Amino acid sequence: MKIGIGADHNGYELKETLKKFIEETDHEVVDFGAHSSDAVDYPDIAFNVAEAVSEKKIERGILVCGTGLGVAIAANKYPGIRAATTHDTYSAERAQLSNNAQIIALGAQVIGPESAKKVVAAYLNVAWSGSSQRKVDQIVDKESQFLDQNFKDAAKSSC
Ligand code: RB5
Repeated sequence: MKIGIGADHNGYELKETLKKFIEETDHEVVDFGAHSSDAVDYPDIAFNVAEAVSEKKIERGILVCGTGLGVAIAANKYPGIRAATTHDTYSAERAQLSNNAQIIALGAQVIGPESAKKVVAAYLNVAWSGSSQRKVDQIVDKESQFLDQNFKDAAKSSC
């Protein structure tokens, strides 16, 4: 698979470790930065990875910040994106199997590199089977309702 990886300055080092780790597998890695530990705003990185997923330029994404929270919150603002913060292998697997999450997020201030590699491997080693499709569809449908409403509101206000 083509895996996008991105981090803010707090996640930079762990991102580099995970990038190398994924490159040693059969997966291809696309690096969305940061490219140093200079300060960078985590929403910018998260939006770029989320956009690449939604445009099908990558199949999955791994995001890293200090806590794994900000990048997930930001990525989830992108229509159609399901990003889950995971720091254990069980949740990482379930993020894919139960939630069809295209992105997982990790916090470099929460988890060490060796555990993080195991979490990423658990996530990448499973594939969505569709068994929870009905529930994921409910999320997708709710999001479409909001998007439709916004479109209607925007159309109304431009009259
Ligand atoms: C720094 O911007 C810090 O807030 C970030 O790394 C992350 O932990 C946010 O959720």
